[in-house]
Amino acid sequence: MMDAGRHPRIELLVNSEVDDITGFVGNYRATVRRRAEYVDAGECTSCGDCEDVCPVVVPDEYQQGLSSRRAIYLPFPQAVPSSYYLDAENCLGFNPIACGKCKEVCDKKCIDFDVRDTILDLEVGSVIVATGMEPWDPRPYDEYGYTRFDNVVTAMEFERLICAGGPSEGELVRLSDRRVPERVGFIQCVGSRSPNRGVPYCSNICCMATIKQTLQIAEHYPDSQQKVFYIDIRSFGKGFEDMYRRSREEGVDYIRGLPGSVERDPQTGELVVEVENTLSGRREQHRLDMLVLATALVPRKFSRNGDGKRSIDEILSLSHTSDGFVMEAHPKLKPVDAPTRGVYFAGCVESPKDIKESVTQAGAAAMRAGNLLGAGQVRIEAITAELVADLCAECKICAAVCPFNAIVEANKKTGLLPDFIEAACAGCGTCAAECPFDAIVMRHFEDAQITAQIDGILADNPMEKIVAFACNWCSYAGGDNAGTSRLQYPPAIRLIRTMCSGRVDQRFIWHAFEQGAPMVLVSGCHFSDCHYIDAVTWTQRRVEKVWTQMEKLGIRPERLQLEWISAAEGQKFARVMRELDEMLRSVTDEEVAETVKILGKKKLSEPKKVLGPAAAVNVASDAGATVSPPPA
Ligand code: FES
Repeated sequence: MMDAGRHPRIELLVNSEVDDITGFVGNYRATVRRRAEYVDAGECTSCGDCEDVCPVVVPDEYQQGLSSRRAIYLPFPQAVPSSYYLDAENCLGFNPIACGKCKEVCDKKCIDFDVRDTILDLEVGSVIVATGMEPWDPRPYDEYGYTRFDNVVTAMEFERLICAGGPSEGELVRLSDRRVPERVGFIQCVGSRSPNRGVPYCSNICCMATIKQTLQIAEHYPDSQQKVFYIDIRSFGKGFEDMYRRSREEGVDYIRGLPGSVERDPQTGELVVEVENTLSGRREQHRLDMLVLATALVPRKFSRNGDGKRSIDEILSLSHTSDGFVMEAHPKLKPVDAPTRGVYFAGCVESPKDIKESVTQAGAAAMRAGNLLGAGQVRIEAITAELVADLCAECKICAAVCPFNAIVEANKKTGLLPDFIEAACAGCGTCAAECPFDAIVMRHFEDAQITAQIDGILADNPMEKIVAFACNWCSYAGGDNAGTSRLQYPPAIRLIRTMCSGRVDQRFIWHAFEQGAPMVLVSGCHFSDCHYIDAVTWTQRRVEKVWTQMEKLGIRPERLQLEWISAAEGQKFARVMRELDEMLRSVTDEEVAETVKILGKKKLSEPKKVLGPAAAVNVASDAGATVSPPPA
């Protein structure tokens, strides 16, 4: 942080918030709100006179609330800038009658209550998101006694207690009586790997953090007794197994089993831990002076602020995996890239990770951003959307559905056509699928190319074929996986690859049925895996509309199936194909002939005609262009 603060080419904007980011790769424009700094950092000498006279006392967040601070304070020893900070929320000085003592005693006259927030407008080529994570609140685990008993603390609180810069200056003390605990216990996986009560994933760092803490205690208090209650110890990584072995050699007792209850002995004040040792199969009772809970790590909450401002998630349209952490463009090939070009991730915003991993990822993100900026120009895939101006009815549906904000809405008053920013387009094809007027051409996945494939599939023996649309990243790769795993499935399936299931226009589905397809499958990534943020939600919405229409027309909706299959789910791919083959057997020639007859009259596979702006507005509202995608 210090190095970054001193670097001539890095401008640190502390105490600042991003209000908005617009634009696209290489051309982002960020609106940054710099919060008012009531202490002039350039003038402040950190003499501390202001802090001495401040009458306000509040819990110190940096010390996890284990000590207090004043309303004007030094946030932490290595803070940049290393000047005093005025906490406007708790300060009384904004009412001069109530206070203002700090201002009076400041010789340098560097405190000013009249400073206001400033808004900075910055042009940036790329954005790195490094917003971190937060510890899980262990209060739902009431049986462990956190907040009921003083001597039950979280691992983060323990870190402060044993830190030389902590509230007890590195002396490990019990909170109940400030005596050094002789018997310390650690409970692992509090909230982690617990889908029903906490989070389903492993928080990655807790085992090694606990092992480090046991070694610290063993070094400073060699006579102490330590017990670690665990499910299993995950000490993968360079030198980690060695640390674990050292901890055991220091006499730390590792007990496999998570405690069922923690109570406090009213006579002695000891914590009584009941646990079933799953190695010995016996129920055990352990008496301890202090208990440390290794709590889960969870994604930072990006809720809308009270003042209605958007979170960074919303601003950058970041998508998330099912565990709530942001999703990278590709877990193996682009592990630090966001799906939106020019946006990168560093640290725990992507998943819980230790310092070494965070530093590695930050370096990678910086290099990715540096490469982009250094190149001076951006290479884009040729698979992008293109507007056919003559067919556009200015209905704005495309702009509303684009997950990448690559289409700038038409201006209602001036009647301008939507503006397609090719550099921002990722090529999912959702806009082309949603455009009712066929006014968008998806390069390399044009309507004509896809309908030609449908026609080719159904040219002969259509009753033996299933037309399946498969997204490039998941379902198509799932088929590959099934093939390379030598899994058997019936040969009825015929795949048509699209980059995303979002490209599957409902007219393709109608076209297949018109041409005599007995069954159609639309398949894509699981909701949290879609490589184009939320494009998959539009797929579902579209298929649901087709199902409703099929029902109205007297066509069995079961003949259109929707499946989410990931690249790793070769087994599922084969199973789905077998199930579809079964269904195929139930479709009769008469049924298909009747469908062809009905659809022949309806002409559902044809685009709508441009009827003028008024009609376009109706189409847009029918299509839900102004509503948000359905919830995943
Ligand atoms: Fe597979 Fe969107 S990328 S459904």
